[in-house]
Amino acid sequence: MQVYTLKNKSIEIDFIARGGQIISIKVPDAKGNVADVVVGYDTIEETLNGDAYFGALCGRYANRIVNGEFEIEGEKFQLDCNNETNHLHGGVDGFNRRNWKVSAVEIDRYVQAYQLSLVSEDGDQNYPGKLEVSVIYGLTDDNQFVIAYEAQTSKSTVINLTSHPYFNLNGAGNGSAMNHELLLNASNYTPISAELGTTSGDIVLVKDTPFDFTNTKTVESACKTDHEQIRMFDGIDHNFVLDDFDGTIKLAGVLSDPESGRKMEVYTDQPGIQIYTGAHFDGSEIGKKGAPIIQCAGLAMETQIFPNSPNYEHFPNAILRPGEKYKHVCIYKFC
Ligand code: BGC
Repeated sequence: MQVYTLKNKSIEIDFIARGGQIISIKVPDAKGNVADVVVGYDTIEETLNGDAYFGALCGRYANRIVNGEFEIEGEKFQLDCNNETNHLHGGVDGFNRRNWKVSAVEIDRYVQAYQLSLVSEDGDQNYPGKLEVSVIYGLTDDNQFVIAYEAQTSKSTVINLTSHPYFNLNGAGNGSAMNHELLLNASNYTPISAELGTTSGDIVLVKDTPFDFTNTKTVESACKTDHEQIRMFDGIDHNFVLDDFDGTIKLAGVLSDPESGRKMEVYTDQPGIQIYTGAHFDGSEIGKKGAPIIQCAGLAMETQIFPNSPNYEHFPNAILRPGEKYKHVCIYKFC
């Protein structure tokens, strides 16, 4: 499997065609010490056999759809339930498992860029419509790693694409990211219903809850609390509702590591961001540097629309119709 590289004067990003998986992002700290800041494996072979969501492009609908069911214009669709009773990240054969077509492209704003494309046929995983997807991975000279998605469909369908790297700014394999500091421009979040296994449909203020990251605080300070929403998933696995959403690109959050001093800003034009502290990592798998992948080995920051949006009228629109263009930009900027 070929490894593609995006490189500027200080940063190097490697990815593969399977799932568009980002397998490493090498970033210097202030003293010039370079670390690979995404959770993963040391070899391609382990990557291909390991957790197929690490650094991968997820779709056609990233995150959960309750019971795998949705309806468009009166027609009912049933997707597979690959996450207990829910559909997760596009199903058993999601976009993270596909071999994307990769080509180098020249775009003015990037030092280097690749286009990843995929055709998902009508009926793929039971989703309606033939969906044509293009994702640009671009690196600017000021250390912005830009992921720009576009898609169009032949029939009305649902769509929510995202990228799934887990960040540990102290270097993957160097312990947990619990000590990282997080700021989120989100005054609300979508709590989870234990019964549904995903958002209840409520939109709740973060004020006076552990989910209040409107002022910078450590991930650990939220995860250590006894709040029932934290205990339910042994950490954070929640969608945050970004403030002042208007479809333009805005700062969604800032992650920083006090130990190395590395800092990453996340920008998006999407209404939500899923923060996941990796509760399912239990140390039984070996990752980079031969170190066990422990809980919160890294933190996922997935820009997207809200979970189960196709089933909630008051959630952002998840339907893409023929003639429309799905657009989504996510920027991870290393400062
Ligand atoms: C979800 C987690 C899920 C994980 C799988 C995340 O996006 O929020 O609940 O376990 O993906 O890798």
